[in-house]
Amino acid sequence: MVRAEKMMRAEKIIIDTDPGQDDAVAILLALASPEIELLGITAVAGNVPLDLTERNARMICELAGRRDIPVFAGAAAPLSRKLVTAEYVHGKTGLDGIALPEPTMPLQAAHAVDFLIETLRREPPGSITLVPIGPLTNIASAFTRAPDIVARVGRIVLMGGAYFEVGNVTPAAEFNIYVDPEAAEIVFRAGVPLVVVPLDVTHKALTTRSRIEAFRALGTPVGAAVASWTDFFERFDMAKYGSEGAPLHDPCTIAYILRPDLFTGRHVNVEIETSGRLTTGMTVADWWGVSGRAPNATFLGGIDAGAFYGLLTERLARL
Ligand code: BDR
Ligand code: CA
Repeated sequence: MVRAEKMMRAEKIIIDTDPGQDDAVAILLALASPEIELLGITAVAGNVPLDLTERNARMICELAGRRDIPVFAGAAAPLSRKLVTAEYVHGKTGLDGIALPEPTMPLQAAHAVDFLIETLRREPPGSITLVPIGPLTNIASAFTRAPDIVARVGRIVLMGGAYFEVGNVTPAAEFNIYVDPEAAEIVFRAGVPLVVVPLDVTHKALTTRSRIEAFRALGTPVGAAVASWTDFFERFDMAKYGSEGAPLHDPCTIAYILRPDLFTGRHVNVEIETSGRLTTGMTVADWWGVSGRAPNATFLGGIDAGAFYGLLTERLARL
């Protein structure tokens, strides 16, 4: 009985994000899923500057009719580097593709890092999952300022890095890790149970015409927005990769929480390159077990893309 109740209890998560169209879809998937309780959204600078990412996070909540979700602004720049943004992918607002109304729900007064620290201290140890889908600046800042919270984190399920796919922003690095490699190094070395959703997974989760049309066919504001966003970044990615569709990166983290059986991976050692001449921001994953270094992350590699898009469409229909 106790076990059954525990299994039914929603997993408490905090999404740390730089929306971004794919971040937006991740947030919507979480909001549509009863297995998940979204305690709050912490915004970070990444795809676009912080004033836009926190605004976009509030717009997404309003689109889903969830003005009750607290949104906090966090770091405006990486720990020790100049911010690199990605308007060339996401458009100048970060959410280009469809015109949405300016948000009216307020930004929370507290700083995102304070929210992370206070929430982790308040909630029972091990009960919170952190879902970072942007640069890791906020999470690393919280761990550095309040080392006592590290052992209280249940797990981290993040989008970032690559091994076989290597890089998307440089030949060797994935965007989220590249923007703040020092922050990534702190998070990967923290000792928290860590699940990494890298490009190796997301480059297998490609949009197709029929998958995008399934979003549009929902006939709802959410379906129209998701179809327009995916249409928008698909053009850029198809030209870049020469592929038939575009990767939908960030929702794969939420899908992993909901349906880990859709993914495959290995528990391996992953180190972050912070000072390479050509490889800064690289996630050096010991996929073949050759380093002798202790495993610190479950590094995913495969996804059932058809089931992922089926799940996503079914859930978005609920909003
Ligand atoms: C990651 O970078 C961002 O552009 C996306 O939102 C995703 O989090 C993919 O490399
Ligand atoms: Ca992102």
